[in-house]
Amino acid sequence: MPSLTNSLRDYHTFALPVWAQQVICIDSMDALWTAYQQVQRVKQPFLWLGEGSNTLFCKNFQGSVFLMRLKGLQITEQADAWHLRVAAGENWHQLVCNTVCQGIPGLENLALIPGSVGAAALQNIGAYGVEFQQFCRYVELLDLQRQQLVRLPTSACQFVYRDSALKRLDQSRWVITAVELVLPKAWLPCLTYGELKSLETNISPQALLEQVCAIRQKKLPDPRLLGNAGSFFKNPVMSREPLNQLLLRYPELTYYPVDQHRVKVAAAGLIERCGLKAFRIGDAAVHQQQALVIVNLGQATPEHVITLAKVIRQQVIQQFTVSLEPEVCFIGSAGPINALEVLA
Ligand code: EPU
Repeated sequence: MPSLTNSLRDYHTFALPVWAQQVICIDSMDALWTAYQQVQRVKQPFLWLGEGSNTLFCKNFQGSVFLMRLKGLQITEQADAWHLRVAAGENWHQLVCNTVCQGIPGLENLALIPGSVGAAALQNIGAYGVEFQQFCRYVELLDLQRQQLVRLPTSACQFVYRDSALKRLDQSRWVITAVELVLPKAWLPCLTYGELKSLETNISPQALLEQVCAIRQKKLPDPRLLGNAGSFFKNPVMSREPLNQLLLRYPELTYYPVDQHRVKVAAAGLIERCGLKAFRIGDAAVHQQQALVIVNLGQATPEHVITLAKVIRQQVIQQFTVSLEPEVCFIGSAGPINALEVLA
């Protein structure tokens, strides 16, 4: 087996000391086919990686990591909306800034979310009352086996909170190459979420973008300074009945209605009430400002992060009988693996 010669530290925001046999930058369709044919020839596992901002490498990767760097943005103006065709390797935050700056509002609540456009679709990123799926018309995928591009309409993507059918596609066959977004010209700021509620309703898209950036910068650690992958767990969604039971014992819990029957409980609050803020294992720690984020204090290993995540899950189950599900994608030595099994 070829040796592991490529550090993955710079290619994922947790910045863990993990390695791959090969790291290949895919910045054109030619580069994509060349790399794909090469790994097919040697029957090597491969992994598509955007900017690695929602990825936990649990082990060294025994294969090739393909960095999705296809670029391109085409904007088409229609009577009532702008249609944006964006290549999967574009940076999400740059897209948000670029569109708002050109007078095309809509994405401002999703500012400063790290990662690529392709990963934004896969994960159905969301923040401050807005989700990726609201703007998505289709996701373009390349079928590597049949060598053809396929457009998956939003209705087929099964977007839900931080999840989509794209996550369950066999990634040795399918890769996201582009998305089409629709940004309606009739724009109103979305100010429904906590800290945004106090803003004036006549706020400009640019000012809203700046506010969102300021809120995020206050709470969320900058991965360039402190390794992390954003929220490590999802906020658990539960029906009203178990919530009411919990509220009898913990009336101070924060939760938000999802629909008539279900609520989303703030997982950060549960973790904090377990006394785990700043708790650390090795160099992996619960972030001081935001308990839902696990940070790499410098020399964290995958084992530190996994052990810490196990402790958090166990304690939250023990105290609240609520099972936290990871939001971050876990990668094993040959590809994506089941995070709940790793933490069991
Ligand atoms: N809270 C605590 N303790 C904390 C942090 C927060 O009690 O340490 C409480 C807050 O008081 C607040 C609630 O928890 O009432 C929610 O906090 P926050 O607004 O920071 O949101 P979050 O639930 O922690 C979610 C997303 C974030 C997104 C923000 C804003 C998930 C898993 N996370 O975080 O997304 O930026 O809302 O919309 O849904 C990500 O996906 O990686 C991510 C960072």
